[in-house]
Amino acid sequence: MYGLVNKAIQDMVCSRFGEETWKEIKHKAEVDIDVFLSMEGYPDDMTHKLVKAASVILGLSPKDIMQAFGEFWVQYTAQEGYGEMMDMNGDTLPEFLENLDNLHARVGVSFPKLQPPSFECTDMEKNSLSLHYHSDREGLTPMIFGLVKGLGTKFDTEVHITQTQNRDDGAEHDEFLVIYKPNSAQ
Ligand code: HEM
Repeated sequence: MYGLVNKAIQDMVCSRFGEETWKEIKHKAEVDIDVFLSMEGYPDDMTHKLVKAASVILGLSPKDIMQAFGEFWVQYTAQEGYGEMMDMNGDTLPEFLENLDNLHARVGVSFPKLQPPSFECTDMEKNSLSLHYHSDREGLTPMIFGLVKGLGTKFDTEVHITQTQNRDDGAEHDEFLVIYKPNSAQ
């Protein structure tokens, strides 16, 4: 995955637990890189190793770390120069979720080797929708909970997300039920 992802993990750990803890995590993961370059590709395995090592050092489950990372990603990308792209992607949570593939298509202009996920919204009701997540990768599903939560914060919208279909159980793709309620009139 592009270095932007590993850089975000580094930033999240350093801001919450400090540089020394990050060094310990890198050491445990056997990753000997001081500066991740956002626009450079790194093996997916490196990202997985960093999450695994962080889980051991911080005493949190990999799932918890991935969720926290998903939530962090929403603010991180905004602060790394993609805020305008995010703002243009929709004015409400459901609108934004419907446009996620367009967002990654725009991201792909700067990241030509991007292997983006694909999302689809179905069963759209006033306060709920089904979110379908397709990915060439495995093991990133817990991130979705954090991402949707982070987007809820961005849109000042309360969200409740549950997984209704799981690739780990043989389903073709992961599916989530997202129930939401904007805090102010939108
Ligand atoms: C402007 C904001 C964003 C940028 C710049 C961005 C960029 C990226 C990049 C660089 C990757 C790594 C893929 C690769 O290297 O091949 C990625 C993956 C991913 N992104 Fe985004 N992204 C953004 C917003 C979002 C949002 C809001 C979501 C919410 C659902 C999201 C969901 C994901 C997921 C789940 C992956 C993992 C890849 C996979 O499942 O195969 N991204 N994104």
